Amino acid sequence: MAELSGKVAIITGSASGVGEATALLMASRGAAVVVADINVRGARDTVGAIEALGGRATACEVDVCDERAVQGMIDLAMSTYGRLDILHNNAAALGDDVLGRDLDLVTMTVELWDRTMAVSLRGVMLGCKYALPPMLAQGQGVILNTTSVAGQTGDVKRAAYGSAKAGVDTLTKYVATMYGKQGIRCNAIAPGLILSPPAIANLTPEMLDAAFRNRLLSRAGTPGDVAALAAFLASDEAGFITGQTFNVDGGVLAHHPAYSQNVVIG
Ligand SMILES: NC(=O)c1ccc[n+]([C@@H]2O[C@H](COP(=O)([O-])OP(=O)(O)OC[C@H]3O[C@@H](n4cnc5c(N)ncnc54)[C@H](O)[C@@H]3O)[C@@H](O)[C@H]2O)c1
Repeated sequence: MAELSGKVAIITGSASGVGEATALLMASRGAAVVVADINVRGARDTVGAIEALGGRATACEVDVCDERAVQGMIDLAMSTYGRLDILHNNAAALGDDVLGRDLDLVTMTVELWDRTMAVSLRGVMLGCKYALPPMLAQGQGVILNTTSVAGQTGDVKRAAYGSAKAGVDTLTKYVATMYGKQGIRCNAIAPGLILSPPAIANLTPEMLDAAFRNRLLSRAGTPGDVAALAAFLASDEAGFITGQTFNVDGGVLAHHPAYSQNVVIG
C-alpha cells in the first residue's frame, strides 16, 4: 500500500467523483488533505467523510481559473499544515453549461472555448505556479494532473475539452523537465469513461454499449480506479516516475477497435 503518512495534499475538484475518491484514499493512507472545489458545500461533505474515518482534512472554496483564489488555496495549505507535498490538479467543468455545449467547431463560441481552457488548462498552470515555490523550498514535491484520453485522440465532439487536456499532458512534461533536478515529480493521469456523477448523468444506453464494446475489460471504470493510481504516484514508492501520462481507461486506447470490439476469445 502506498504510504502517505505526514504528507499534505491539495486536491482540486474533490467535492465529487474522481477528486472525492482520491481525497478519501489519500487521507486513509495518512495524508492531510485540502479539499478544494468551487462547490464548497460538497467540499465540506468530503471533509466530513474523511473526518468520520479518522482522517485530517480542510475545505477550501476555490475557482481554479482565478489566480488570487489559487494563491489563497496554497496559502491555506501552508498556514493550516505547514507544508505542501502533493498538488493534484483535478478540477474540470463537466456540466451541461460547458462540456455539454462543446459540440462542433462551426457553432463553437469563443466564450465556451475560453471557459474550457480557463478551467482545464489555465487552472492547472496556476496550481503549478503557486504550489512550486513551497515545494522547491522543501526540496521535494509531487504534482499530479488529471487529463483524459480525449487529449490523445480525435472525436466527433468536445474539441475544446480534448485540446485543453492535450495541453495538460504537455504542461506535465514541462513541469517535470523544468523542476525535476530540484526534487519535483509531475505526472498526468488520463481516465477513459469513469462512472462519476457527471458521466452517469450524461450516459445514454447507446453510449454505455459503445463504451462496453471498446473497452478491453468487462467492467466500467470507477473513481476509485483513478484514485488508486493517484495515491501510488503521490507516494515515495513512485519516486523514479516523472513526466508521464498514464491511461486508466480499461484498455480503450490499447487496441484497434474495428478489429477487436466485437470479438470475445475464450
Ligand atoms: N468521468 C470521466 O469519465 C472522466 C474521463 C476523463 C477525464 N476525466 C477527468 O477527471 C477529472 C474529474 O472529473 P469527474 O468525472 O470526477 O467529475 P466531477 O464533476 O465529479 O468532479 C469535478 C469537480 O470539479 C469541480 N470544479 C468544476 N469547475 C471548477 C472550478 N472552476 N474550480 C474548482 N473546482 C471546479 C466540480 O465542482 C466537481 O466537484 C476531470 O479533470 C475530468 O476532466 C473524467
